[in-house]
Amino acid sequence: MPTITEIEDLRRIYRRRVPKMFYDYTESGSWTEQTFRENSSDFDRIHLRQRVAVDMADRSLKSQMIGEDVSMPVALAPVGMTGMQHWDGEIKAARAAEDFGVPYSLSTMSICSIEDVAANTSKPFWMQVYTLKDDDFMQRLFDRAKAANCSAAIITVDLQLLGQRHRDIKNGLSAPPKLTPRSVANMMTKVHWGLGMLSTKRRAFGNIVGHAKGVTDPSSLASWTAKSFDQSLDWDRIRQFRKMWDGPLIIKGIMDPRDAREALNVGADAIIVSNHGGRQLDGAISSIRALEPILEAVGDKIEVHIDSGIRSGQDVLKAMAMGAKGTYIGRAYVYGLGAMGQAGVTKSLEVIRRELDLSMALCGHRHLTGVDRDILMVPKGFSDGWDQAPPAA
Ligand code: GLV
Repeated sequence: MPTITEIEDLRRIYRRRVPKMFYDYTESGSWTEQTFRENSSDFDRIHLRQRVAVDMADRSLKSQMIGEDVSMPVALAPVGMTGMQHWDGEIKAARAAEDFGVPYSLSTMSICSIEDVAANTSKPFWMQVYTLKDDDFMQRLFDRAKAANCSAAIITVDLQLLGQRHRDIKNGLSAPPKLTPRSVANMMTKVHWGLGMLSTKRRAFGNIVGHAKGVTDPSSLASWTAKSFDQSLDWDRIRQFRKMWDGPLIIKGIMDPRDAREALNVGADAIIVSNHGGRQLDGAISSIRALEPILEAVGDKIEVHIDSGIRSGQDVLKAMAMGAKGTYIGRAYVYGLGAMGQAGVTKSLEVIRRELDLSMALCGHRHLTGVDRDILMVPKGFSDGWDQAPPAA
């Protein structure tokens, strides 16, 4: 095993170990992948201000997300089909998060079901909710999350239609994978993965199969999103969901200050500034560029979190310094999971913690909660350099 010092090391191992279909699912953005690329490259445009001869002893990254104590403000984002990256992947990722003291969010599109993850972990996790047309399914989903002791619900509002990811179509992405000569040939080269998958029964969408009515092909993400997701979703409908769930509510997928205000008005406790990791609207700006106008509009009234593009502790530091109250990693932990199972997720979190801790110290801070925009050098026009300013919220 090579020495692992950065997230990129885990991605390389992951790529070797996991079937192409699932690697591609993780590593894709929609259409031209402009937004996917800029989510990361825009973090690189922000620089950090080095300070010296400042006491750097006794540091802490502890803070809170929606009132929950976290060892660092880096939650595991909801990721569909995690259990195809590594057998029982959701359970393993949730356990790694729990041991590390950071929140785990379970996707509606998970392989392990809500009940299964709850039975195999000991701390509450957060439940991500897709909005389907089927009201019974929705009510039951919230009830199941409550019964499983989930401590927050995350409603995703940017995926009523699936952004097109070319490789998923070409690969015939499904869970369990469809056996074609090409997929079988590729899977046969992934022996460790294959043996692991044979050792578990969890190989289909655990929250859907047997729970959602009228889904004709529950193995295909594309077909059941097209058939079951509610394209007419609007803020009134989200208000109905707010009534179905009386716990803390996070709304994910906000990129515009006007939508941030709507989320505030429906009574959300937090929003996630997110373009879905560049997997939905290709051509949207990066979420780090979208953050400041949203903070200006609602940052004093609601907790603002961010995902999309975060691959390092330095990225986390930049987002927190800009004013986010929490961050999420998706791909950065999936690489670890695919590479090494639960230990790999822990490794991802360790890499990020170390980068965050040392970079914070080199900027002259000992407590993450005390870090502010002063440590950043943001290029002119980064957030507002548009011909047409974003409309006032
Ligand atoms: C689902 O959330 C996806 O981005 O594939």
